[in-house]
Amino acid sequence: MEEGAAGRTRTAAVCVTGAGGFVGSWLVQRLLAGGRYMVHGTVRDPGGAKNAHLAALGGAAERLRLFRADVLDYGAVAAAVAGCDGVFHVASPVPAHAIADPEVELLAPAVTGTANVLKACFETKVRRVVVVSSLSAVMVNPAWPQSQVMDEACWSDVEFCRSTQNWYCLSKTLSELEAFDHAERSGLDVVSLCPSLVIGPLLQPTLNASSSVIVDCLKGDREVKLKLRNFVDVRDVADALLLVYETPEASGRYICDAYASQVSDVVEMLKSWYPTYKNATKFVRVSDEPLFSSKKLEALGWKFRPFEETLRDSVESFRAAGVLD
Ligand SMILES: NC(=O)c1ccc[n+]([C@@H]2O[C@H](COP(=O)([O-])OP(=O)(O)OC[C@H]3O[C@@H](n4cnc5c(N)ncnc54)[C@H](OP(=O)(O)O)[C@@H]3O)[C@@H](O)[C@H]2O)c1
Repeated sequence: MEEGAAGRTRTAAVCVTGAGGFVGSWLVQRLLAGGRYMVHGTVRDPGGAKNAHLAALGGAAERLRLFRADVLDYGAVAAAVAGCDGVFHVASPVPAHAIADPEVELLAPAVTGTANVLKACFETKVRRVVVVSSLSAVMVNPAWPQSQVMDEACWSDVEFCRSTQNWYCLSKTLSELEAFDHAERSGLDVVSLCPSLVIGPLLQPTLNASSSVIVDCLKGDREVKLKLRNFVDVRDVADALLLVYETPEASGRYICDAYASQVSDVVEMLKSWYPTYKNATKFVRVSDEPLFSSKKLEALGWKFRPFEETLRDSVESFRAAGVLD
């Protein structure tokens, strides 16, 4: 709540782009649950079944308003952002499979989409913008000393991402750079969050790309990549987004990573808990991910739940959603 001119409190409005996705849905849930925010959620298809879960969230009837907006459509984005004190820019493509046209399918929505959101935020005098970036914008850096834990000072190398056709990492790096570049030029208050692989229970009815990493371990239909991998719970990501938004002194980037685990250990854990599933049998060994420090975020008070809880809650939600059948 914020104090209005007449001394009355008012509910602050915030906008969440990509409100119907995996991370977006949990963020909307958290914002509504606290009772302190009016939420403007952008979705591409407000009447579609894939977004119907949003109307069922507690407080949605009173405080959630959906706006139809593709982030490439500046006018639609500006209409959603108008009147908001804060904006969480979550929308960006996260492809589950190889893509045919990286420029159209990934780079334009990520980078031009971010530019559109920031321009709209500037025009409407938004107080703070929280941009959801990714560890993908941190970790692809061959110049970083191998023995050194990665922190917020490390950026993925744009040319290296391009030359290795690592399009998703390129899209996240370019869009986060665009966000901070805009902040520097305009004075807009921008902070970013860089989560590792996000897993946890689904609120949305369809399976998103990062959750399919765990589904693949259980279903055994596809080859599973074995490596040291970094994970974070979607509920802890939503909490982190709220924390960096609400903490006045928050600034710059925040790595948001909870646990590093060998995928082979995850497969074994799932097998012991759920022996009736087929479970993965086809594996390919790839390079381990680096280790990351979330100390900057933890210093703001961020906490995360145990990995076992995240994994169990993920699988229980997959069962309920029927994605393991
Ligand atoms: N999941 C992870 O492991 C992970 C890790 C780090 C960072 N992130 C970041 O977190 C954010 C959300 O990802 P997610 O995991 O929640 O994936 P998701 O469920 O696939 O959500 C992606 C969202 O972006 C929206 N979107 C994509 N292109 C758009 C466009 N042109 N215009 C408007 N909306 C568009 C999608 O809308 P539609 O429903 O209409 O397609 C969807 O709401 C992304 O920025 C992603 O890079 C995710």
